[in-house]
Amino acid sequence: MARTPLVAGNWKMNKTTAEALRLAEEMLPGLQAVAGVEKLVCPPATALMPLSALLHNSGVALGAQNLYWEDSGAYTGELSPGMVAEFCQYVIIGHSERRALFGETDADVQRKVAAALAAGLRPVLCVGETLQQNEAGQAAEVLSSQLRAALEGTQLSSAGALVVAYEPVWAIGTGKAATPEQTNTLLRNVVRPTLAGLYGEAVAQGLRVLYGGSVNAANAADFFAMPEIDGALVGGASLKADEFVGIAKAAG
Ligand code: PGA
Repeated sequence: MARTPLVAGNWKMNKTTAEALRLAEEMLPGLQAVAGVEKLVCPPATALMPLSALLHNSGVALGAQNLYWEDSGAYTGELSPGMVAEFCQYVIIGHSERRALFGETDADVQRKVAAALAAGLRPVLCVGETLQQNEAGQAAEVLSSQLRAALEGTQLSSAGALVVAYEPVWAIGTGKAATPEQTNTLLRNVVRPTLAGLYGEAVAQGLRVLYGGSVNAANAADFFAMPEIDGALVGGASLKADEFVGIAKAAG
């Protein structure tokens, strides 16, 4: 089944609104020139409104980096699914930095995925094992348990409604990417079968599964050559227009 590749940039806590606009303007022509690939940028929350105006009808989608599951109320500092959906098509959920630095649990991630879907957003659900878990041979177990915890009991209207990002924690921001072959094997033997267990084989084959962790313009093509890898979630390299456009080109 043909899955349209998705190249997503996670800008994390970088760029003021003015800087974010400049970066988006700089990369937009290059991204628009890449056909057959879905492109997505996820700036900090303060930049969502101006970027949604810039990117409207541009062929580049907009995503948030987080949300809270309640619709409104006394939740200081949080953004509701409806607030995010006002500007975005996508939302990153369960990034390892949120899990490790902000105490997000599997149960939180489950609520956030369900709330995002209910608001019409497409979650980019992040899963991945730590170095310690990897070295203990627990990658497969961690991935399937994170996926099941995040998705069990949540229905999908279609395979396009959700994106999964496999991000081994040890590969994020380290310059030490996983190998494309190892990644492909994990996606084929663990991620897709787990998704098939939840949603059936047809949906699992239609869902996009990204790789994330030290992807750059030089190594992206090797990942995208793998049949199970449907794109990338890019951190550091998404803050440089030429790098991010290079990654998008490699997916085309
Ligand atoms: P990185 O980050 O590309 O800087 O390794 C990836 C991510 O955290 O999504």
